[in-house]
Amino acid sequence: MVSQTQEHAAEAPVDSEALAGSLRPFGASRMLPREAYTSQDVFEWERRRFFDDGWTCLGLSSAVGSVGDQRAEAVGSGGVFLIRADDGVVRAFANACRHRGHELLPCGGGTVNRSVVMCPYHAWTYRLDGSLRKAPGFGGPGFDPSAHGLVELQSVEWHGLLFVNPSGDAGDLASHVEGLEDILAPYELGRLVTKGHHDYEVAANWKVLAENYQECYHCPVIHPELCAASPPRSGENYHHPEGAWVGGWMEIREGFQTMSLDGRSGASAFRGLGEFRRRVVDYIVVFPNVLVSLHPDYVMTHVLTPLAPDRTRIVCEWHFAPEDANREGFDPSFAVDFWDVTNRQDWLACESVQRGLSSPYAVPGPLSEQEDGVYQFVTMVAAAYTGRAPRPASPTATTPRGATSRGGADTAVDAAHVAR
Ligand code: FES
Ligand SMILES: [Fe+2]
Repeated sequence: MVSQTQEHAAEAPVDSEALAGSLRPFGASRMLPREAYTSQDVFEWERRRFFDDGWTCLGLSSAVGSVGDQRAEAVGSGGVFLIRADDGVVRAFANACRHRGHELLPCGGGTVNRSVVMCPYHAWTYRLDGSLRKAPGFGGPGFDPSAHGLVELQSVEWHGLLFVNPSGDAGDLASHVEGLEDILAPYELGRLVTKGHHDYEVAANWKVLAENYQECYHCPVIHPELCAASPPRSGENYHHPEGAWVGGWMEIREGFQTMSLDGRSGASAFRGLGEFRRRVVDYIVVFPNVLVSLHPDYVMTHVLTPLAPDRTRIVCEWHFAPEDANREGFDPSFAVDFWDVTNRQDWLACESVQRGLSSPYAVPGPLSEQEDGVYQFVTMVAAAYTGRAPRPASPTATTPRGATSRGGADTAVDAAHVAR
């Protein structure tokens, strides 16, 4: 059980000397201290400081796409209840009835097209704006319905993504996502339709999963299907130290239309993409927990929900343009099957990393030149552990903005295209 002092501390309960090793310049740095991946105290601290006090992305806001749609998700220390209200705006509330606290929906569950919110315990009902509508058996002069509305939490829809900040302490979302807009905007996430869904539970710390996503050093060893579709040493990473995200792009191999097992796409390229973006895939981690993979013809999101220091729920979804998704007979399996194979290869590796790190004799290791995306993620976490805003350090101190190689050399795509 974490103490109150630890829970509210500005600095994470990790060894400061080991943490200094994570913050050294690229090439001389080390992974995060072992306890970052294994300690219950660190896990509780992260839940408070990263997930309650920061902006947490819940994936595409189309999960509550129409007025009356409702969902509940586990975020940080508690559940968040989401509603698309009558004015078309998504609102977030604590997922706790104002009577005796029953969840309004189980976390991970949802319902659509409801005119009210009804608590399943004693049937208190709320309007879509969270105000109390009816409390059976109450109504006397001593009861003021306006004092019993749902507890509203801060939430923002941004380029089709839904962010919540339960404590309200995170400040402006704009600085959290600074530099990301130009990359995301051409994919028009706000109009995409979800056509594939996988729910995984992985025996690994959430950061092991995010770090694994940020490098392709491991691809030639464990991902034959991915390497057939994308040269593992292609591409470049972005450096936007002003925003709480890291990412980069990789090429799609000649002869392949997209990332699929046979190279064929069952959809069309997004209408807003130029020549460059039709031949690459962007891999973006929005701190702390959402992975957004931008393909020419589909977007894949992974939402990581930390369950324990060594356990993470991952909801992976595939999103398509409406002109494809709503077509009779549309089959998303070309995208879903490719990534399900690749995801499972990654989960096996990450679970093994977690078991390795559980040894008290495990020592944080160095990063290769192909792991500068991991360096950016690790330094972002390490900065937050010291009480600063989560921002990545640049692997190349002299070029704070720009790009370094994502997978190594051998890229055939001109670096000047990065911003397109
Ligand atoms: S707890 Fe919700 S109506 Fe009683
Ligand atoms: Fe991988």
